[in-house]
Amino acid sequence: MDTQTTIERAQAVLAGGCDSPVRSGWGVNAPMFVQTRAHGASAYDENGRRYIDYIMAYGPLLFGHTHPSLVTNLDEIARDGFVWGTTHPEEIRLAERIRSYLPSMERMRFVSTGTEAVMSAIRVARAYTRRNLILKFAGNYHGHTDLALLNAGASAYTSDAAASGIPAGVMRDVVVARYNDLESVDVFLRGREDELAAVIVEPIVGNMGYVTPVSGFLEGLRERTQRYGALLIFDEVITWLRFGLHGAQGRIGVAPDMTTIGKIMGGGAPIAAFGGREEIMRVLAPEGQTFTGGTHGGNPFCVAMAHRVIDLLVEHPEYYDYMDGLARRLAEGIRGHFRERSLPYTVVQSESIVDFKFRPGPPNRNYDDALAADRVKYAAYYAAMFERGILLPPSQNEVMFVSVAHTHADIDDTIAAIGESL
Ligand SMILES: Cc1ncc(COP(=O)(O)O)c(C=O)c1O
Repeated sequence: MDTQTTIERAQAVLAGGCDSPVRSGWGVNAPMFVQTRAHGASAYDENGRRYIDYIMAYGPLLFGHTHPSLVTNLDEIARDGFVWGTTHPEEIRLAERIRSYLPSMERMRFVSTGTEAVMSAIRVARAYTRRNLILKFAGNYHGHTDLALLNAGASAYTSDAAASGIPAGVMRDVVVARYNDLESVDVFLRGREDELAAVIVEPIVGNMGYVTPVSGFLEGLRERTQRYGALLIFDEVITWLRFGLHGAQGRIGVAPDMTTIGKIMGGGAPIAAFGGREEIMRVLAPEGQTFTGGTHGGNPFCVAMAHRVIDLLVEHPEYYDYMDGLARRLAEGIRGHFRERSLPYTVVQSESIVDFKFRPGPPNRNYDDALAADRVKYAAYYAAMFERGILLPPSQNEVMFVSVAHTHADIDDTIAAIGESL
């Protein structure tokens, strides 16, 4: 069966041919990539052709696709069942482990996806402060609940409010400021400071390319939220475990009131969490009046996977250095190509993330920078790399993720393919 037929079949039965629009290839004007298999750092198409995968499922696959510690003996953790609908000791132990690395999560609750974690955190923040207004940042992505989608990064698309299905009422209680720009925070909040329930932010951003907070930005958010009696929520769905066991908050030294985590923590299985200071989390039922819940929350299978992930990172602290070494080599290789060709693009690399945009000048600082990148060039580059067996994210808002499974040979092949593609 050829790929065209599969795509036609997908379009006939899946809305838009896929479960998440970025997968359709619309961001790069390319046919949808149909995958049948994955192993290590490789993705395979229907014809068995191998691609070096830098999408890595948009973040969860810190260890690649099939790390033996994550995919072996799964029957051991399935033997007692996938989902119980009850509280269990391993779930408690997982929460204790997470809190030992992220002390700001004094109390937490497990959910299945980052979207749910953010939705729940916002509800808790609103209940705790008895206020409604949420301030978020353009180009940050917090999942696909109504308010999170406004002017969001990643592949979110909400240009027409009426057609987007997001009620106008939702928009009254959200303001969208510019990342790395405290002045814009002040402008958008002016006169509404007393309404502010929470500021939600990706402390380090991976959804408008790779964007780091400028010095003083997160501290400024911390100071303002405290001054206004509002909460600061760090969305660490990408950054927790990507930047070590202590996440972005441990690295930057700013403690949020609430945190959301997900992606890597499940080793491919769907598990996420939200949490924060004890007094805040006490608004949740049955202690308080605020409801969140879920059939799959804290299910023993996903919890066991999360333990495997943390075990792996504790047993192999060298993994971070290994990935950093690979990513550095890749970034240097790309820089070399740019120098040779006098191309004005800046490559950023931080640990296992490598990123550059087709926009001259410094790396992205905010969503305006991200939107100024040349989409047509990226689409051509994506196609040229695809032809050479390299699978890049089909959107310029995403970044390249290197994993434990990538090899030096993969990196060298990728650098060679980039040279040819440019
Ligand atoms: C920072 C951030 N928050 C939340 C989410 C939503 O997570 P999920 O796709 O698991 O719902 C994402 C997903 O990309 C994300 O990058």
